[in-house]
Amino acid sequence: MKYQIDQNNYHTFSIFEVNKMPARSYFVPYSDREQADAVSPKEKRYNSPKVVCLNGEWDFKFYPRPAEVPAVLDTQSTDFDKIDVPACWQFRGYDKPFYTNIRYQFPFNPPEIPKLGKVGRVFSWVGFDQKLSMRYKDPGEEYNFVGIYRRDIRIDDPAKNYVISFLGVASCMDLYVNGRFVGYSEGAHNTAEFDLSGILTAGDNEIVVVVHRWCNGTYLEDQDMFRNNGIFRDVLLRVSDETDICEIDAKTSKTGDKYLLTLTAKTLKPTDVTFTIEGHGIARTETIKGADGTATVIIDNLDVKEWNAEDPVLYNIYYETETCCVKEKIGFKTVTIDGDLFLVNGRLIKFHGVNHHDTSCTNGYTMTPDEIERDVKLCKEFNIDMIRTSHYPPDPLLLELADEYGLYIVDENDLETHGTFAHQLPPTYNTISHNRKWEAHYVDRISRLYNRDKIHSNTSIVMWSLGNEAGGYHNTDAMYEYLKLRSDLPVHYESAIHCKKIAYDVGSEMYPSVQMVHDTGEHRRKQKELNDRPYFMCEYAHAMGVGPGNTEAYWQEIYKYDNLMGGCVWEMVDHAVLHEDGSYTYGGDHGEWSHDGNFCVDGLFYPDRTPSAGAKIIRFIYRPIRVRHISGSTFELFNTTAFSEGDRYELTFTWNDGTENVITPDAGPLQKSIIAVPEAKAVDGNLSVIVLTKDRKTGRTVSEEQITIRQNVPGAVGDHLLPKSCAFSGGRPVMTLPDGEMLRGNSEYTILYRAATDNDTDVKFSNTMEPFMAQRERLLASSPILNGYRVETEIVNKTGKFNVMDSYEGTEEGILVTSTLHCVSGGTIIPRFGKAFRLDSVFDDVKYTGRTGESYCDMKDQFPIRTVKCKVADMTEPNIRPQESGNRCDCTEVSLSDGKVTVTFKAVDKPFELGIKPYSDWSLCRMKHREDEKRTGTYVTIQAFQQGIGTGACGPGVMPEYQYSAKKDYTLRFLIIVKENKE
Ligand code: GAL
Repeated sequence: MKYQIDQNNYHTFSIFEVNKMPARSYFVPYSDREQADAVSPKEKRYNSPKVVCLNGEWDFKFYPRPAEVPAVLDTQSTDFDKIDVPACWQFRGYDKPFYTNIRYQFPFNPPEIPKLGKVGRVFSWVGFDQKLSMRYKDPGEEYNFVGIYRRDIRIDDPAKNYVISFLGVASCMDLYVNGRFVGYSEGAHNTAEFDLSGILTAGDNEIVVVVHRWCNGTYLEDQDMFRNNGIFRDVLLRVSDETDICEIDAKTSKTGDKYLLTLTAKTLKPTDVTFTIEGHGIARTETIKGADGTATVIIDNLDVKEWNAEDPVLYNIYYETETCCVKEKIGFKTVTIDGDLFLVNGRLIKFHGVNHHDTSCTNGYTMTPDEIERDVKLCKEFNIDMIRTSHYPPDPLLLELADEYGLYIVDENDLETHGTFAHQLPPTYNTISHNRKWEAHYVDRISRLYNRDKIHSNTSIVMWSLGNEAGGYHNTDAMYEYLKLRSDLPVHYESAIHCKKIAYDVGSEMYPSVQMVHDTGEHRRKQKELNDRPYFMCEYAHAMGVGPGNTEAYWQEIYKYDNLMGGCVWEMVDHAVLHEDGSYTYGGDHGEWSHDGNFCVDGLFYPDRTPSAGAKIIRFIYRPIRVRHISGSTFELFNTTAFSEGDRYELTFTWNDGTENVITPDAGPLQKSIIAVPEAKAVDGNLSVIVLTKDRKTGRTVSEEQITIRQNVPGAVGDHLLPKSCAFSGGRPVMTLPDGEMLRGNSEYTILYRAATDNDTDVKFSNTMEPFMAQRERLLASSPILNGYRVETEIVNKTGKFNVMDSYEGTEEGILVTSTLHCVSGGTIIPRFGKAFRLDSVFDDVKYTGRTGESYCDMKDQFPIRTVKCKVADMTEPNIRPQESGNRCDCTEVSLSDGKVTVTFKAVDKPFELGIKPYSDWSLCRMKHREDEKRTGTYVTIQAFQQGIGTGACGPGVMPEYQYSAKKDYTLRFLIIVKENKE
């Protein structure tokens, strides 16, 4: 068939929809109740006799030169490839993945976007690849690419009504059927529906969808993510009879302690509609015939059990006609703001949240139902109770699952104009959002968010969010007003902080310092809007690479002040692209002419959803019951939930002497209580207890918390001669081991830096570790001493000059190493002070006593101190961009063995921090991807300290209390013990 291809819609500012149906609730009709009852949320849209899922193989033609798109497309003579729907074309070999954070991919000139010609030079003044520099860049052969999709659908009964639903298409779509233009849509993450009744005919029908890489709407979709395109969510053909339901609504409201439920259904032709609510002892039904096809019932006086994320009680509601049944599950809850308090069901609440993108390392924006459910389950498993759907409406399935599993949702609009900041000087957020010419575009987006998701605003959604980083305020006001006329839910919008609005219903900020949060708690902020209403951190604890550090400090404040609602970690999952050989790539790896590197690799979970240490930190910080030792056998319990009584949990206290006590907490929600747990006996001067908390309702262990009351690290005793096997070369120890292997001080023996973590970055994109990295150590003097040897060296780096005095003395147990660090001149902070040793890779068996996982001084409590046996490979973390990782705090001993000999490093006087890596720190600094991590030995670093991690990649850096000043001297002492293994 032939198609006159529209050349204008995608770049005509006044057009953002043509023939698109008004927004309505997302739902899936079935023929009858039996069918509707039989299906799970995940299968719903795929099993209905009234919905044909158009996923699968489509014909596809990619036009790298938009000028080559024919004015008249003849599908018969077009040489199509095949592509699967849903998918992003960058993940199917067309074009390449392109990651940019705040910059647009084309010159900033809203609302103009590239049409047929080259993109042309792009100005920006900030970006990961250009740091802070004013630059014009030439994208070269970049165009507004076009992808054309085609498929046939077979229709048996053309007299029925047909609606085609696209749940997500980026950036825009022109729809054609059987040779005719049908309609146009923008708003990538909103549902686009077109009425095909009367257009589809009996037999085969041809559907053609033309997708442009960019449209005017792309100015509103400048989110920090890979910039993908295509039909990326499911496509559904809804087939209905005139008496089928074509729109539903449900609204709950509370008076006194009873709820009122208003149910509405629309049908194409007036017909009887039966409304039912059922569950937990309630069964109410009413049938009415609506005038003009709209039927509404009010079911009052409902004595329900309210929904909350801890106990997600759902009721079935049915909307039925003679030909159709729509089943939804709904919860009853209230969300109110009382002064500066945010209340759910009248109770104060703290949200333990994360930001969630729909992201897959093999499919870009496309996620399968199983993958969506996996993310929801992960949240539950990791004590996360809120998702902010950053930064667009998620696949609607996420909301259904959030209702069912119990997660609070901040449902965000598909809106971000962050590039207004990067491409203009002076930078401003408000260029588009305060320009009333865009108002209709904004209101369209919010109306589509609201209407699609309104059913879930009864249940999991606790706030609407106007979008992200788009400034304001004229058009954001318009969206706010739109919502306020329709919904009682509070409206969130962080970017109001960048315009004179400051805040809508809640104050919101991203990456505030702990001090700012504290000041907000005290109502001491300059902007009154942050003091006079509840305060939410829509993003905090930037989880890029190792970290986030110092997160607990926020929660100390959040729990202290009632006006602090909690917040959402940035972000749940790393964005990266997985290749067939198992490697991952990030920004800049695909030849992007402009990119933001690995800034998108900033999740608590790796792209395949393996939890990183960050996820474990958050699971710990978000634990429902906190335990604090007061003194002797007195402990304080703190129930951090909003709805669960203490007896939901069972706490098992296991002391280090093996004594066990099982406790049922009696603290109610957000309450504390004092309990007595008989103190056990210290073992070798050590007294500690591990508290395992189990959720009786789910059977899940929700946390493991260790309280160390006394830790005893003995000194070294007895004077002995240094063993002959211990020699020195250039001031570094060189030991020949009994099996002929060697233990050496590594070439950077006294190490004062670490391979920069992603969070070792400051606001100017500088690597804060850089001044320490080019360190040179020079031997000043060395001489024998009584029972030992003494070495003096000097270290110079860009911050100053340091003196290192080392002594090696024989003792009963082994060689006592004492190293003292003193800053001679210059000097600011010292990121790390350790001694680095190298063994051959055959030393692969590790046994240590210390924190059981990756820990740094500002993020260590998530892992108790225990004895662990593992391999060298288990001692680093598989970061997508290799960096310092795997540190272990509070270690008293570590042994490495090659099967024949065991080399032990034992703490003296106080614990050390341990690093074991299969490569040196020097070589780690030069690695960019996982596959660069080639093993060259076993590198053991015994450290007096390493500074904290912080969240400097996007937030406060390392707090002063987790830094080490160069003004002080530091001493590190440990024993080296070599033993032959006995058979
Ligand atoms: C925020 C933004 C997020 C993300 C984050 C940094 O400013 O809202 O989308 O870019 O910073 O990773």
